[in-house]
Amino acid sequence: RSADVEIVESLLREVPDFPQPGVLFRDVAGVLASGEGLAAATRAMADLASELGEFDLVAGMEARGFLFGAPLATHLGTGFIPVRKAGKLPPPVLAATYELEYGTATLELRDGTIPAGARVLVLDDILATGGTASAGADLVERAGGTVVGLAFLFEIPGLGGRDRLAGREVRSLIV
Ligand code: PRP
Ligand code: MG
Repeated sequence: RSADVEIVESLLREVPDFPQPGVLFRDVAGVLASGEGLAAATRAMADLASELGEFDLVAGMEARGFLFGAPLATHLGTGFIPVRKAGKLPPPVLAATYELEYGTATLELRDGTIPAGARVLVLDDILATGGTASAGADLVERAGGTVVGLAFLFEIPGLGGRDRLAGREVRSLIV
C-alpha cells in the first residue's frame, strides 16, 4: 500500500452516532482540509482508477463525490459530470430514487451532458449500502454513457455495497 493511501487513512475520522444513533459516520473533512491529504487522495484515486482502463469523464455524486471527483478530473484532464440531489438541476433531467444507510434520496443527472458511448468513471467518497453509487451508475448509463467502473476512497464492508454493484468493476482505496 502506498504512502498516499497511508496519508489518506491517517486523516479519516470516525464519528459514532452521527447523523443518527447507531450510525458510524466516516468524516473526510480532515482529508479535504489538508493540502497534502487532498493531493494524496487525488493521486491515489488516479492510481486506483487506472486499474479500470481508460475513461473520458468522471461522474461524482453530490456532495462528497464532487469534492474528490472534480480534483481527480482536473488531475487527469477529463470532464466532470455532477450527479446531483433532486431539484438542483434544470430540465431535462434523469432521476433515480434509492435508499441510503439512513433515509431515502433521489439523484438527478442532466440529460444531454454525456456524449453517447463516453466512458465514465463513477466516483464517491464512501461505499456503504451501495444505493448512492448504484443510482449514480444507472443514471450515467441511462444518459448514454458506459460505466468503466466505480471507485471509492473508503468502503464499509458488510452493508451490501458490493452485492448492490454486482456485475460492475468496483475499487476502494481503503476497506
Ligand atoms: C454518503 C456518502 C456516500 C453515501 C454512501 O452521502 O458520501 O455518497 O452516503 O452510502 P450508501 O452506499 O449507503 O449509498 P450522503 O448522501 O450522506 O451525503 P453527502 O455526500 O451529500 O454528504
Ligand atoms: Mg455522498
